[in-house]
Amino acid sequence: MRKVLAALLASAMVFSLAACGGGDSKETEAPTEAAKETEAATEAPKETEAATEAGTEAATEAAGESQAAASGEGLKIGVCIYKFDDNFMTLYRQELETYLKETYGAEVTVVDGKGDQAEQTNQIDNFISQGVDVLILNLVQASATETVAKTCADAGIPAVFINREPDAAELERWESEGVAATYVGADARQSGTFQGEIILDTPNKGDINGDGKVSYIMLIGDPENVDAQYRTEFSVKALTDAGTEVEELFAQRGDWDQAKGQELTANALAQFGDQIEVVFANNDAMALGAIEAIEAEQRKMNEDIYLVGVDALDEATAAIKEGRMTGTVLNDHIGQSHTAADVAIKMANGEKVDTKYTVDYVKVTE
Ligand code: BGC
Repeated sequence: MRKVLAALLASAMVFSLAACGGGDSKETEAPTEAAKETEAATEAPKETEAATEAGTEAATEAAGESQAAASGEGLKIGVCIYKFDDNFMTLYRQELETYLKETYGAEVTVVDGKGDQAEQTNQIDNFISQGVDVLILNLVQASATETVAKTCADAGIPAVFINREPDAAELERWESEGVAATYVGADARQSGTFQGEIILDTPNKGDINGDGKVSYIMLIGDPENVDAQYRTEFSVKALTDAGTEVEELFAQRGDWDQAKGQELTANALAQFGDQIEVVFANNDAMALGAIEAIEAEQRKMNEDIYLVGVDALDEATAAIKEGRMTGTVLNDHIGQSHTAADVAIKMANGEKVDTKYTVDYVKVTE
């Protein structure tokens, strides 16, 4: 599995670099190709290894090129994370910091917004008064993007927004007004679609009890976040687009959190018991919580219930391998953090960049 995951990460990285080279939202429209290639690679381990090597070479070359094109020596970079206590953003920020330091020799300071937009706004103001060269921003509230982008623009500091996608109108404003701001992330619609497709790929297409419909529960991340909105919508849409009837038994917010995922699933199981055929979790942290609740009820994974998450945390891929979870979708924190860093360095060196860069998701099953 480790090998497969390494291959997935490497191939996802190649796509991310492609996105970085010419990228705008167009890249998002060819996700399935990427996924297909990865699936094919998973079936043919030898090819996967070759692909991994090729991927690594391409990655190294591209990193070398961007290093030559834009130096990070002496640059001061401020990074604001919405909260440190988030499994996925922990992997992301650690990779981002290491990559910025090791690849570019930049001076990096990473701060914890503790889930509080007012606190984070102060941190941004502090970075601005310290005169950082560029800011990398994972906002607590995506709805604060316009205000923050204006503050940064007034201070003449370029801003790279990550992880929480701003409104399309705000991206258009950056484009039309020539604002030095960009968004680096992934298209959450794709992750939702992949979750639904994983269920459609099961032997009974998710209809375990054969009553002609898939009865599911939905563990929602933070409802203000487009990742949560799109994953909730597109996971189910993949089923209905395939002509499958669905029934939503339960949908509640779990704020991306493992303990809440456990609690919500336990409540749903107590209320709906065997009627639940599929658990959709907007992320793996909540899915890991769901596993605890499902196992406490002695339900049999992949026999009388299915469970899918997003992120491909190590704990989740291990659970999939052990048959304790059906599947997940790789949210490529390596590709995203490297793209964010590459773009930040370019902006700090005064280069013009696109307003949006996306990195593909990849399906992960046994
Ligand atoms: C990830 C979640 C994470 C969230 C934070 C999402 O893209 O899938 O695990 O909690 O970002 O904003």
